[in-house]
Amino acid sequence: MEVLIRDNAEIGCVLGAKIIARMVREKPDAVLGLATGRTPLRLYQELIRMHRDEGLDFSHVTTFNLDEYVGLPATHDQSYRYFMRENLFRHVNIDLKRTHVPDGTAVDLHAECRAYEKKIIDAGGIDLQLLGLGRNGHIGFNEPTGSLRSRTWVKILSEQTLKDNSAVFGSFEGMPKHALSMGIGTIIDARRILLLAFGPAKVRAVEHMVEGPLAAICPGSALQQHPRATVILDENSAAGLHYADHYRWVDSHKLPWQRYD
Ligand code: GLP
Repeated sequence: MEVLIRDNAEIGCVLGAKIIARMVREKPDAVLGLATGRTPLRLYQELIRMHRDEGLDFSHVTTFNLDEYVGLPATHDQSYRYFMRENLFRHVNIDLKRTHVPDGTAVDLHAECRAYEKKIIDAGGIDLQLLGLGRNGHIGFNEPTGSLRSRTWVKILSEQTLKDNSAVFGSFEGMPKHALSMGIGTIIDARRILLLAFGPAKVRAVEHMVEGPLAAICPGSALQQHPRATVILDENSAAGLHYADHYRWVDSHKLPWQRYD
């Protein structure tokens, strides 16, 4: 796992955007796995800026989002399809037919999950998967103790996750308690992973993900098995790491071609 600690979330998000932009420039038809939540918002703004000012071209890019709430149509302002449209898709030249978000309104949710897996395979697999990290260590909507080999499935959200997300949702009671989510096995199959985690609320999850045992109690720890996982942190989220000096040492001794910023 490559651990990059930056002074703050702003610098971390710009760095994350650079990594994604480099992927899109090197492979214009890249398949990107995308995430929602507060964490990647600034990264998406930077991608939009690169599209506007530097001609970053999304016209051949395909995307697959991690998850979606069960029961929310694309028109609902808290659906992840809506989030992606408002925060990225409508600001860049992406072909909406190439963008995928699980359909939380599907009559047969299991069939929708299977179909989503097939679409990812048919697209050639995911080149780069962007991730945030839940306060309890979840990735996508894979809550603690879910199988580390799971594929896209229907998940019951934990009380902690519902509370954390209720701030943006407006109310805890009105929130869907279920979601469709890529499984941890689906996520880990991506050829490259980029996880962002910022702020003091993520400190324990980050510590467990990076330095704790590989364990289903912290779904993010599955990234320890991935051959090409990059984790971008700020000083706050990295505060619990025992080997922070080692990560900084490695970061400062990279060869020129190993650097992103
Ligand atoms: C949500 C999403 C995750 C996200 C996480 C953290 O529940 N399903 O994909 O990474 O929680 O959210 P935030 O970035 O708002 O802290």
